[in-house]
Amino acid sequence: MNNILITGGCGFIGSNFIRYLLANSNYRVVNLDCLTYAGNLENLISVETNPKYKFFKGNICDSSLVSEIIKNEKIDCIINFAAESHVDRSILDASIFVQTNVLGTQTLLESARKTEIKRYIQISTDEVYGSLGAEGYFTETTPIAPNSPYSASKAGGDLLVRSYVETYNFPALIMRCSNNYGPFQFPEKFIPLIIANALNDKAIPLYGDGLNIRDWIFVEDFCRAIHCVLEKGRIGEVYNVGGNSEKNNKELVKIILERLNKPESLVTKVTDRLGHDRRYAIDYSKINQELGWEPLCKFEEGIQQTIDWYVNNKQWINNVCSQRYLDYYARNYKGLEK
Ligand code: NAD
Ligand code: DAU
Repeated sequence: MNNILITGGCGFIGSNFIRYLLANSNYRVVNLDCLTYAGNLENLISVETNPKYKFFKGNICDSSLVSEIIKNEKIDCIINFAAESHVDRSILDASIFVQTNVLGTQTLLESARKTEIKRYIQISTDEVYGSLGAEGYFTETTPIAPNSPYSASKAGGDLLVRSYVETYNFPALIMRCSNNYGPFQFPEKFIPLIIANALNDKAIPLYGDGLNIRDWIFVEDFCRAIHCVLEKGRIGEVYNVGGNSEKNNKELVKIILERLNKPESLVTKVTDRLGHDRRYAIDYSKINQELGWEPLCKFEEGIQQTIDWYVNNKQWINNVCSQRYLDYYARNYKGLEK
């Protein structure tokens, strides 16, 4: 049995991945998370008592804690999900993004390279490639050109990973994925925000002309891709992952409101995000051809599962972010009256 260290396991993708791995493999999972506003122990209640699961509250920037965990828990593999992940917040204040996404990554790499780690996976993002026009796709050889402080900090992390592979022969890989959606996503991100606001008959802020495009992937498909790369990915390589499901923001809101039987009048145009990337689209042929992975969940199915989950877990939404917080966020960051 291998011992795997998951960092940021109490967030959206990390918690989905931990549940997925415990259900579909024999790994013993150690989760290190400092529980920022986005990290929530409630996300992992279903595995809390699993003997193959252990939680440490702590920061990836704490090198002695990270080294202790790697040694004491006999860690063989690390997957780094821990990050500040929201673009809008990075525009307001980039410093914590640099701390966690750049320095935190470097701390993990430095602690891990002094051990017998077999594999390290950096969970990165398609945003490091910048923005596309109407045509074309990001491939693994697309030059890095991040446009937001968030994506710049993620690109910084990626470059450090690359340098540890080249300099120390460190066994790392990088995964760059498009926009995930699904259960347990914090309602500051667009899809859960639309659902949470619509359920409360509150305004839904649509940035700019609403024509920015994202390639949406159901989180379980990404979890399967990470598992594939963990088992079979080639050391030193980058793997792009996408959902084959491009939608502009206007059509996305319309689909969700229709399914919730809520009026389109809830949509409120607000000032555009600064430096708003126009389009992301992923060419995932490398992971498909090398490792046999492809997205399996059609958008129509994934979005219905997601909506159903939020409708059935209203208490979760209330627990992770109080209405007061959402109102404050809407007033101050999005220009909505309330
Ligand atoms: P999230 O914000 O939901 O979760 C981040 C988790 O990291 C939280 O549990 C938080 O408490 C923890 N964390 C933050 N700083 C930490 C620190 N210094 N030490 C320890 N733990 C810390 O994020 P997410 O959406 O689940 O994203 C996970 C990873 O996937 C991130 O690296 C993100 O850049 C990447 N990614 C996300 C998406 C997406 O659509 N959500 C797409 C591609 C890549
Ligand atoms: O592409 C991968 C990235 O996807 C990840 O690396 C990030 O961690 C993740 O947050 C996500 O970034 P985006 O900025 O694309 O996601 P977000 O949900 O914030 O926004 C999706 C689109 O919706 C984007 O074009 C901005 C728009 N939007 C967003 C919000 C929050 C709105 O129009 N209104 C909103 O209130």
